[in-house]
Amino acid sequence: MRIDPESLSPGRRYFLMISAIVPRPIAWVGTNNQSGGHNLAPFSFFNAFSATPPVVGIGFSPIESKPMKDSLANIRASGELTISIADLKLGDKLHESSAELPYGEDEFSATGLTPAFGNVVSAPFVQEAPVSMECRLRQIIEIGDAGSSMILADVLMFHIRDTLLDARGTIDPHRLKPLARMGGGRYASLGEIFKLPSYEQLPE
Ligand SMILES: Cc1cc2nc3c(=O)[nH]c(=O)nc-3n(C[C@H](O)[C@H](O)[C@H](O)COP(=O)(O)O)c2cc1C
Repeated sequence: MRIDPESLSPGRRYFLMISAIVPRPIAWVGTNNQSGGHNLAPFSFFNAFSATPPVVGIGFSPIESKPMKDSLANIRASGELTISIADLKLGDKLHESSAELPYGEDEFSATGLTPAFGNVVSAPFVQEAPVSMECRLRQIIEIGDAGSSMILADVLMFHIRDTLLDARGTIDPHRLKPLARMGGGRYASLGEIFKLPSYEQLPE
């Protein structure tokens, strides 16, 4: 079957995209809003794009009721954000924090999560999360003319739960247990983790 994305309605195109490109990591984005409160929301159009410098990207899609997501408005205004990575235990709260609350309403208090603060940016991150990053906006890229955009952000500080790092200084995926996004309301855990035979022969 061949599907030309141009032939699909925006809704069907969206569902095809989010169910074909799986599993996706989720950036749980903490920002300060312009009235001094906090904002928290999940975004799974998210990945790392450079390690030197450490740069991540997040895609924002407009919806009819909110042409610009609060997180993006806050990042534009302050140039700051945090990204937390949720483990499986935090799944319900992460999903809850995606509610379309009016601008200025705080998803930390709405979900009972604790805002924590680093020493580089003033945006809050999720204290209960195993990994968080303090980030500064590098670039905003407008995509097309329907209001989509993406940001690139520099990671300035990592906050990692002590028990997660293995002897090599990498995060042990078995301990991290990250939550991943599938299409629609579906989420996933990591399942089986294995090394390809060609990697088995390489020294650690
Ligand atoms: C797991 C998950 C991933 C999401 N990923 C995205 C995304 O990548 N881009 C986007 O624009 N919205 C995404 N959303 C929807 C936003 O989280 C939702 O619109 C939220 O209310 C935005 O909050 P804000 O207006 O406070 O920024 C996602 C929702 C969930 C539950």
